[in-house]
Amino acid sequence: MNSNKLNGEVYYPSEEVISKAHIKDWEQLNEFATNNYEKFWEDLANELHWFKKWDKVLDDSNKPFFKWFTGGITNISYNCLDVHTKTHRRNKLALIWEGENGDTKTYSYFALHRETCKFANILKSLGVQKGDRVTIYMGRVPEIVIAMLACARIGAIHSVVYGGFSVESLAERIEDSNSKVLIVADGAYQRGKIVPLKQIADEALQRCGTVEHVLVVKRTGQEVNMEFGRDMWLHELMNLPVASRECSLEKMDAEDPLFILYTSGTTGKPKAILHTHGGYMVGTYASLKYVFDIHEEDRYWCAADPGWITGHSYIVYGPLLNGATSFLYEGAPNFPYPNRWWAMIEKYGINILYTAPTAIRGLMRFGEAWVNRHDLSSLRLLGSVGEPINPEAWKWYYKVVGKEKCPIMDTWWQTETGMFMITPMPCVPLKPGSGTRPFPGIQMDVVDENGNSVKANEEGFLVIKTPWPSMIRTVWNDDERYINQYWSKYPGMYLTGDSVRRDEDGYYWIIGRVDDVIKVSGYRLGTAEIESALVSHPAVAEAAAIGLPHEIKGNAIYTFVILKNGFTKSTQLIEELRQHVSHEVGPIAKPESIEIVDSLPKTRSGKIMRRVLKARALGQDPGNISTLEE
Ligand code: PRX
Repeated sequence: MNSNKLNGEVYYPSEEVISKAHIKDWEQLNEFATNNYEKFWEDLANELHWFKKWDKVLDDSNKPFFKWFTGGITNISYNCLDVHTKTHRRNKLALIWEGENGDTKTYSYFALHRETCKFANILKSLGVQKGDRVTIYMGRVPEIVIAMLACARIGAIHSVVYGGFSVESLAERIEDSNSKVLIVADGAYQRGKIVPLKQIADEALQRCGTVEHVLVVKRTGQEVNMEFGRDMWLHELMNLPVASRECSLEKMDAEDPLFILYTSGTTGKPKAILHTHGGYMVGTYASLKYVFDIHEEDRYWCAADPGWITGHSYIVYGPLLNGATSFLYEGAPNFPYPNRWWAMIEKYGINILYTAPTAIRGLMRFGEAWVNRHDLSSLRLLGSVGEPINPEAWKWYYKVVGKEKCPIMDTWWQTETGMFMITPMPCVPLKPGSGTRPFPGIQMDVVDENGNSVKANEEGFLVIKTPWPSMIRTVWNDDERYINQYWSKYPGMYLTGDSVRRDEDGYYWIIGRVDDVIKVSGYRLGTAEIESALVSHPAVAEAAAIGLPHEIKGNAIYTFVILKNGFTKSTQLIEELRQHVSHEVGPIAKPESIEIVDSLPKTRSGKIMRRVLKARALGQDPGNISTLEE
């Protein structure tokens, strides 16, 4: 493809950007990766440390249970920390942290390694062994990073639950993963208030019986309940001899589990996506290096939360594997004022900013003046993730934040993919609203109901046709769900759950989810989670949740509820139901609206037809309703 002849509105990278970039010719790299797929990944794997090299790069003998770098022995935590402490990066900053209240902390690679070893020794002393699951429930504080790296060091499987989730979400994730240890903070600062994480955890622990030990990180300092024999303060243990600075690490098979991360799917309970030490490490390392073009002197900021995949791959593992300096901010973007982000970019000299469209739209609302008060000239690259970015927000980000000199890396990927799958690189011409093309070598397609490729510019289902190193290995404890969800609709193709359009230049334009997943402010929620929270309230007989377009959040949750006999509609009850969902699932799931109805549109077999509810709310034609019950 000749990049000089692209259709539509195109932004070409400057000579300056290209001259600095690791990859100057995307077409050439893509051609190499396509024709030498395994060699491409093998070369990248060779840039990392292995205690023993692999026998095979890709093992596809048992599809769709693909394996990567089989026979290889490594440890991702070793590659994130130990490797750098043996080089010029020993005293380089690995992590810079700013709390919402202005507290700051910095960790060199040496210090992060030391803290990780100490933490890992505490976990060992609690009996945590290779393969055990550890649940982590915290805000954006350095200890969340350290806890993850400590688990990885000793081969424990971490399961991070986002701090914005609440009682039932936490309880079911602890129970499903059968975690014996929970690492929690007393609280988290969010928009000047304290989120009482420990209190939420206490309530969750009453609903599930697996946890034996709770490690509590002191952050917000309010009084919390400490159950004797179960709960311990981390800072106290860190001062005891048990928290030695020497901690032998577990040598991990490339295919050994690294973490599970729960995410919402089409139906039922959230499922735990399993990622491994070897392939995940290679995928996150390489994708960050090429896409955000990490250089030694960069200060990189991914403003996501470590509790979601973006944070796992691109706050914790990707940056540390690259020996980068990563910035972590605890609080809200507009606290105490809407210039908070811009002030921190200026203060720390951030070069790369990676965030979500919802945050951009939210900050855009406050106007340019807040941005223009600050010197943002350190910025070189910008990024976007989580949902489609509307061209208006893209242009604001490009012009007002990036001053028309920073390309925007609009990266499409998923919890399941582990790494960027459709993404530009700095040298690639951009079209606002498109993530451009698949990562080099990865074959994707847009197909119709029968799995046939559709024509350019037609809408279809997004599928992936080649395996990739950081791909989901399975759904934790549920191989069948893994097969059914991702591989059963079209044989040999991974089903993403997104609908998409591909233009005549091969650029992909994501339209949105085609299943029962709702993206609210970039967060992934399932209709089933919201509905089951609603029906757990004594007044509710049945409930249905849908997502409707929202100017800032992308989508907002609208719900329809049938009350049980004896309950009557009132504003008070509706507010109580909204609070109930917030308490059970989390504030992010709180419905925008709850409409009390007498009936719900259902198929004859009793399935709620959310499509019909959505069409009705939007005043659109509901399409085929032949299966609708009388
Ligand atoms: O619908 C797509 C949307 O987010 C979904 C994956 O959500 P999750 O697993 O939570 O991971 C989010 C962060 C990687 C996708 O199926 N999505 C993600 N990135 C983009 C996007 N939609 C449009 N453009 C993106 N850049």
